[in-house]
Amino acid sequence: AEQNRELREKLMQLKKERNAIILAHYYQRDEIQEVADFRGDSFLLAQKAAQTDADVIVFCGVHFMGESAKILAPNKTVIIPDERAGCPMADMVNVDGLRKLKAQHPNAKVVTYINSSAEIKAETDICCTSANAVKVVNSVEGDEVIWVPDKNLGHYVQQNTDKKMIIWEGYCNTHDMLTVKDVEEMKAKYPNAQFVVHPECRPEVVELGDFVGSTTAIIKYCRESDCQEFIVGTEDGTGYQLRLDSPNKTFHFASKYLVCPNMKVNNLKKLVKCLETMQPQIYVPPHVAEQARLSLERMLLVK
Ligand code: 13P
Ligand code: SF4
Repeated sequence: AEQNRELREKLMQLKKERNAIILAHYYQRDEIQEVADFRGDSFLLAQKAAQTDADVIVFCGVHFMGESAKILAPNKTVIIPDERAGCPMADMVNVDGLRKLKAQHPNAKVVTYINSSAEIKAETDICCTSANAVKVVNSVEGDEVIWVPDKNLGHYVQQNTDKKMIIWEGYCNTHDMLTVKDVEEMKAKYPNAQFVVHPECRPEVVELGDFVGSTTAIIKYCRESDCQEFIVGTEDGTGYQLRLDSPNKTFHFASKYLVCPNMKVNNLKKLVKCLETMQPQIYVPPHVAEQARLSLERMLLVK
């Protein structure tokens, strides 16, 4: 505790000196969420990155999030606590594969989940996050969509749109681990609880949800609901904001495996160090960034 207090003091000092803003995803460790200027889901944090006046953005999340921030704010320095924090789902789609699919379906628009590399975004018509996926798919011209990389979120969107979706086979290792059996056991144990679930989970698990939504949507739903007890089907870091917003409600995570090891690579010590050394910095080659930026900016304009 003493060490963390010292680290936090050092962080506040460095933040002022560098004119930096700290953005943290809801899946980060509590010790990082505590010191963040903004906590949020992928969508909110992309918006904050695009809008900030700070000179430096410290992005506490996984690599594609820092990259998206750099693409949206090319004149800012973007640093991350540890460049090994990647997203396995983002790595499940490659440019060659996507180009092949585009050649096979020349009339389809490419909608890409923000959990993807800058190179994939550069091949994309419009990006989305789990918060706006249905709206974004419905917003594109024509009736065919190539969807990369998350098959589970893709399946969920397909059930809520008339467009025909050609869906890539990627998935989130963490959310995809949750099974129907896990949820049924929890429901039997906590019969008064509602099950709230992220659409990165398997279709048959999402099917069991009393509420389905992005991390922010889940937090808002739990805060506003009359229900006092929830079984939570998303990453366990979300507990920090859930408990902060609803201190008198009870939250049970649906499985002990709902932990993203990549998100947990970052910690307070590395956060302070990156602001001290200004390393590692995110770099995106300008020609890639320019193309990718269009797909992110289009997303931010969808109402
Ligand atoms: P959201 O932030 O859109 O809820 O997405 C979840 C996720 O897995 C981010 O990596
Ligand atoms: Fe990627 Fe899943 Fe971790 Fe999000 S929770 S960063 S989608 S592996």
